Amino acid sequence: MTAGFVRGLDLHLDVGEGRGRGRALEAALREAVRSGRLAPGARLPGSRSLAVDLGLSRGTVVQVFGQLVAEGWLVGVAGSGTVVGPVSAGSPLPEPEGRPAPTVSGPGIDLRPGRPDLSAFPRTPWARAVRRALAGSAASLDYVEPAGLPVLRAAVAEHVGRTRGVRASPDAVVVTAGFTQALALLARVAQRLGMRQAGVEDPGFARHREVLGAGGLNPVPLPVDDAGADPGALPDEPALTLLTPAHQHPYGVVLAPARRAATVEWARRCDGFVVEDDYDGEFRYDRQPVGAMQPLDPERIVFAGSVSKTLAPGMRLGWLVVPRALRAPLEAEMTAFGAGVPAVDQLALADLLSRGEYDRHVRRMRLVYRARRQELGARLAAIGAPPPAGVAAGLHALLPLTSAEEERQTVKAAQRAGVRLHGLHTGHYWHRPAPDRPGALVIGYATPAGHAWRGALDALTELLR
Ligand SMILES: Cc1ncc(COP(=O)(O)O)c(C=O)c1O
Repeated sequence: MTAGFVRGLDLHLDVGEGRGRGRALEAALREAVRSGRLAPGARLPGSRSLAVDLGLSRGTVVQVFGQLVAEGWLVGVAGSGTVVGPVSAGSPLPEPEGRPAPTVSGPGIDLRPGRPDLSAFPRTPWARAVRRALAGSAASLDYVEPAGLPVLRAAVAEHVGRTRGVRASPDAVVVTAGFTQALALLARVAQRLGMRQAGVEDPGFARHREVLGAGGLNPVPLPVDDAGADPGALPDEPALTLLTPAHQHPYGVVLAPARRAATVEWARRCDGFVVEDDYDGEFRYDRQPVGAMQPLDPERIVFAGSVSKTLAPGMRLGWLVVPRALRAPLEAEMTAFGAGVPAVDQLALADLLSRGEYDRHVRRMRLVYRARRQELGARLAAIGAPPPAGVAAGLHALLPLTSAEEERQTVKAAQRAGVRLHGLHTGHYWHRPAPDRPGALVIGYATPAGHAWRGALDALTELLR
């Protein structure tokens, strides 16, 4: 299947393979307008960039636009390209059935995973958005509903529907202070509902295992292979399971369709819930972005995202799209903890999203990180190292090494050279560490500022040579 994120506007479209893809694009755009994923007045990307993104000829895209203009779905506007026509969006989307790594201090090159390029934070757009937020009515500074301000919940529902294919109504969206807080709250909700266990990817992000454990759930390791986490070990009882389907952290693989289906089947059979940690789903660099898993069963899958990789982790802003059965208990838990996100930040994020500034920033950074990943691959190839494992996506790359011992030695040597590195063992990714488990480096290539990137690459290749 060929799918693409459409430049200009971030829009997830699947157009299949081989012949008939023009038709598929036509149908996908029609469906996006009809369902409201593309709102009246939204500007479509140019035919040239859309054609490149989807691997179609420009002529095909021009023909598709022409057909949809003839049908009234789209309108050509002189000087502005093609926009969505003034059709009503049909009925609203139906409610479906059914440890961050320590802070970096001091000099050195940081190639640990987990952070975007903080120097690229969109300071000016954010400052403008905050100013506009402060110019709003005094009422907007009142106490905030635990689930968040309606304006942000609506903007997030639109955003995740359009860019990740998530089925979200504003009612289902809960604004959080980042994913880690959301996970801690969900663990408590699960415990309150009688659950005792939580499936976790092995290898997986250590901090999240700890958060689930601190929330009273016993982590159950799910081995990860080329097809993602194997749900076979999930308990035969109501439980939570935490997955990174679009880009497994740290292996970088995509959760295979059969595993997605089997996990949903488990959740339905055992009255369990899946937490889909879509931590870097915006960053995919080849032609096959994978949509969210959540639409498989929005009543069993909690979709989770945050701005930690797109803007900056220090923002502490994120969102959940929550199945109906979990909304009231989650709200109760948030109230009990006094959890909530500052109103001005919520207003500013809503502003950034609705003006397209967030999309623009993500698009810009996607190009930067794509180039870095390519450069990393080329430099590794030049020294005869194996290519990074996993799909071309996200902000980190896994570099397999021969053993746990080689990983330890490399990380130590890096430390001496002023380079901060993490690996599967040294970064505590293994649920049950053992010397015979594979060793690898987990390189965070997004973290260095632009001017420091080449130097970081030189230092890394020098170490691996
Ligand atoms: C796997 C994974 N999920 C989610 C996050 C984001 O967490 P938060 O939103 O709490 O910063 C991270 C950050 O490093 C991560 O590595």
